[in-house]
Amino acid sequence: QVTRKFFVGGNWKCNGTKQSIQELCEAFNAGKNIDSSQVEVVVAPPAPYAMLTRSILRQDFGVALQNCWVGKPGAFTGEVAAEMIKDIGLDYVILGHSERRHLPEIKENDDLVARKTKYAIDKGLTVILCVGELLEEREAGRTREVNERQLAAVKARLDPADWSKVVIAYEPVWAIGTGKVATAAQAQEAHAEIRSWLHRQVSETCASQTRILYGGSVTPENCVELATQPDVDGFLVGGASLKPTFLDIVRTHE
Ligand code: G3P
Repeated sequence: QVTRKFFVGGNWKCNGTKQSIQELCEAFNAGKNIDSSQVEVVVAPPAPYAMLTRSILRQDFGVALQNCWVGKPGAFTGEVAAEMIKDIGLDYVILGHSERRHLPEIKENDDLVARKTKYAIDKGLTVILCVGELLEEREAGRTREVNERQLAAVKARLDPADWSKVVIAYEPVWAIGTGKVATAAQAQEAHAEIRSWLHRQVSETCASQTRILYGGSVTPENCVELATQPDVDGFLVGGASLKPTFLDIVRTHE
């Protein structure tokens, strides 16, 4: 039985100011040291605040960006390259977040997310790869199919060994920012399906070692029950990661 290290991500999305981010980082720093043998914690500020966040936060917190460019740096106005994320001392990037997949202003497709994932891994980043279904897809009984389609696009671009640099975040879109959290049983069902897909499509090792996080209206109140599920290996937290009580979610497993 492999034990997967619990992982808690805080996705700050497009929120914050210099001042609010400084205050939040100071509140996190004032909390107990993180037992890095038990839990990996990563926060993802908006890009302009990434260096500020990295310079203030204790080193037992990782820092991620929320997106990156699909290839080499160059004439790509407005983009941030994976190389730059590494260069400023960060080790993680979130890719394929549902807001980037579905907002009409962005509309990233499965293959673009997959290509970004491959490039970021090749540049030494760990990718927090988000997958998940829309409400209408769940209601049509298509949750599994949608997750597997999004994962298959990534598999088509990765070498098998690359999966050790992937943390999957299952985020049902209907649960994001809505206060409508998935039940523990709903989360477990989707996570088990994803793990079984990893087993069939990549390898047994990949299935047993890959962390699968749940994201969607996670709070300090509901995280404990979700974490009891055998295939829930942590969380990707949005709104509740903008408050000092995010640390209660970090300590879920204690
Ligand atoms: O990436 C985290 C996320 O989309 C969940 O957001 O605000 O529902 O916790 P929230």
